[in-house]
Amino acid sequence: MNIPVKNNVCWVGKIDWDLRKFHGNELSTHRGSTYNSYLIREEKVALIDTVWGPFAKEFVKNLSSEIDLKKIDYVIANHGETDHSGALPELMRLIPDAPVYCTANGVKSLKGQYHEDWDFKVVKTGDRLNLGNKELVFIEAPMLHWPDSMFCYLTGDNILFSNDAFGEHLASEFMFNDLVDQSELMFEALKYYANILTPFSALVEKKIKDVLALNLPVDMICTSHGVIWRKNPKQIIETYLKWANKYKENQITIMYDTMWSGTRVMAEWIAKGITQADKSVTVKIFNIGTSDKNDVITEVFKSKGIIFGSPTINKGVLTAAASMLDELRGLGFKDKKAAAFGCYGWSGESVQIINDHLKAAGFSVVDDGLKLLWNPDDAGRKTCFEYGKSLAGKL
Ligand code: FEO
Repeated sequence: MNIPVKNNVCWVGKIDWDLRKFHGNELSTHRGSTYNSYLIREEKVALIDTVWGPFAKEFVKNLSSEIDLKKIDYVIANHGETDHSGALPELMRLIPDAPVYCTANGVKSLKGQYHEDWDFKVVKTGDRLNLGNKELVFIEAPMLHWPDSMFCYLTGDNILFSNDAFGEHLASEFMFNDLVDQSELMFEALKYYANILTPFSALVEKKIKDVLALNLPVDMICTSHGVIWRKNPKQIIETYLKWANKYKENQITIMYDTMWSGTRVMAEWIAKGITQADKSVTVKIFNIGTSDKNDVITEVFKSKGIIFGSPTINKGVLTAAASMLDELRGLGFKDKKAAAFGCYGWSGESVQIINDHLKAAGFSVVDDGLKLLWNPDDAGRKTCFEYGKSLAGKL
């Protein structure tokens, strides 16, 4: 199924309805994804990106039904990660002489993965490729999402091909932003940003400002995952600028792991205290041992503060809590506050450990946290409630 995009541009990618885990098992994709590839047929023919390797044969067969492959003059590899380049070996076996346009880092990643000496043409920001009446303008975009990433822009049609940026993992046969459920679309775009692009927010902001400074009219943004932004494409650019700039809503996320429910009870009474003290704040609670990690991180992204709990086990924290603390450190959230809690039976180190990890992850830890011995009784619940009330002001 190929989809007309605009004039001589059509989508020749793959909708992956089945995908539920991405990046190995790192990222949940509850709504599947798409790998978007675009064919531009001007006087010269250019193919932008391919699809993930398992779909390589299907991709090439489908592309062959759309065009005689030998008529492809240029292959553009905006990003070497295998979800976009995975079908290149299958394609290049059939058109081995076609030049592959990519960044200098793109050559490294493509050679590193496929060990092929294709006719690489290294491009830099501002370089142009003449397609006849229109041109492709290349714009390097390092760390959106890898050091090798780039965008390209099609003059005349005013289309920005942004690869990972502005994308989302959302399978839909409708493929355009105005045709899909808006809340699903924006949730998936947010989840994508929160889980993949958060560490690179400063670069995201700078790159968007660089692109805006070029004063190129942008009628469409063709990403490499999810829908094509054709209705008010600036909305996702403006939204990215907000997300990149220490984004937070009036939300506090409580996350905990628990062995015998003591820390869960603490979480619930802390939440009651917060809402008693501040009825305007949204409070969400997640058991990180049973919740989807990426959904929780998406909520952290939206939060002005988090409260993190674990009981003590073997002088440490529970496994899911340890894993989440590591994840938070890698993502490097900015300008968020945090507190810790947990119950214990014997030694009780968990709260201090959580505080240390939260500080190392860049959170402003607002106090020493709250630890309770054994399961909270009525007095313990009241202590949690009062602690929640105090956190309402501090977070
Ligand atoms: Fe969609 Fe960084 O690959």
